[in-house]
Amino acid sequence: MDKLVILGAQWGDEGKGKIVDLLSEHYDITVRYQGGSNAGHTVVVNGEKFILHLLPTGILHEHVIGVIAQGMVVDLEVLKEEIEELERKGLPVKERLVISDRVHLVMPYHKVLDALFEKKRGIGTTLRGIGPAYMFKYGRKGIRISDLYDEKRFYSLLEENIDFVKNICEKVFCEKFELDVKEIYEKQLSIFNEIKENVKDVFRFLTRTEKSVLFEGAQGTLLDIDMGTYPYVTSSNSSALGLSNGTGLSPKYFSDAYLVGVAKAYLTRVGEGPFPTELKGELGERLRELGGEYGSTTGRPRRCGWLDLVALRYAVEVNGLDALIITKLDVLDSFEEIKVCVAYELDGKVIDYFPASYTDISRVKPVYKTLKGWKKNTKGIRNISELPEGAREYIRLIEEFTGVPVIMLSTGPKREEFVWLREILKTKRSYS
Ligand code: IMP
Repeated sequence: MDKLVILGAQWGDEGKGKIVDLLSEHYDITVRYQGGSNAGHTVVVNGEKFILHLLPTGILHEHVIGVIAQGMVVDLEVLKEEIEELERKGLPVKERLVISDRVHLVMPYHKVLDALFEKKRGIGTTLRGIGPAYMFKYGRKGIRISDLYDEKRFYSLLEENIDFVKNICEKVFCEKFELDVKEIYEKQLSIFNEIKENVKDVFRFLTRTEKSVLFEGAQGTLLDIDMGTYPYVTSSNSSALGLSNGTGLSPKYFSDAYLVGVAKAYLTRVGEGPFPTELKGELGERLRELGGEYGSTTGRPRRCGWLDLVALRYAVEVNGLDALIITKLDVLDSFEEIKVCVAYELDGKVIDYFPASYTDISRVKPVYKTLKGWKKNTKGIRNISELPEGAREYIRLIEEFTGVPVIMLSTGPKREEFVWLREILKTKRSYS
């Protein structure tokens, strides 16, 4: 399996970081291809916690080449900090990092705009400037990293952008705008000069390599700009739709890729937007506390609810998933009964699909199937024989409903806490 895609099958925060970390050991290259520092991929290695926002998670393995592909929007200040932090911890990064010459940069003024837009209509963004950076890209006002080779051009693009944003701030929002062109110019150029050796034509690199590649999605399918709960989504294609435009690789390239969706055994969402199975009272609180459901990028409490199989089947279909990996099953260990959403009710009718319309998806009522809780520990288990019957039944229900196998359970935050239900890789190393 030379091409593996790991992506989020829900609203992000499914635990992809841990899974990518685990599986990238068996790959030569790990590619991130959409989003930016809005992501927060958490990995615990030897008791040490790493939260990666921009660097591909695979880079934590010293043999892996990490690629930041063209679909990402990159905040150079965050990137510099992240590289330095890993290098301080003794992990060489610079010689293993490839950054696409086509990536767009997230500038300080994008973050100013993100905050202003949030004041007007709250999406509950991460305030990392992601939406405005993509707005500039698609509005053909963006600055790509390769523009910084030509300092004059960079300065004039920056001047033009800053003038535009200043006008929006002052004339539309009646707010002060205090960013300085020269300061931004110097800061961005100085970081660029430190990493310019890493800037390459990623499209050529990937089309010519014989090495095995793992593609690491960020956010999740239900946050996809086209397929998610628009407008309460992120600004990139965070489903498999982002693979081609995010890398420049033809859809044909992915025809022999294996696609795995990561989903929690329940559901969470951070920020605003529809969430049919959300639990607002004590049960939601209990899931939040047991699951430690606080954002890894913003620290915000996540909204929690029961697993939504209608939404999960939709994610399987949108992405063409081959399999699922389920995380955080242990959070359900102590529940007397567990509910799963198997259909929606809309205007008195039962529907079995995930509606595109905002008005509909925000009005549907979940139709639940209730299962008896297994009331046994699954945390940290490493052997399939330790899985209680009730938990097996839960997994079987997920498989039957979505039509794809659950190949692995993640049973804790540490690298070694997982169980293969159907192994897809030949492991080179056994975790002890
Ligand atoms: P943005 O991506 O910062 O523009 O935020 C748009 C929406 O996506 C908000 O609801 C965010 O909370 C959500 N979001 C963005 N990145 C992530 C992530 O990595 N995990 C979960 N939610 C995210």
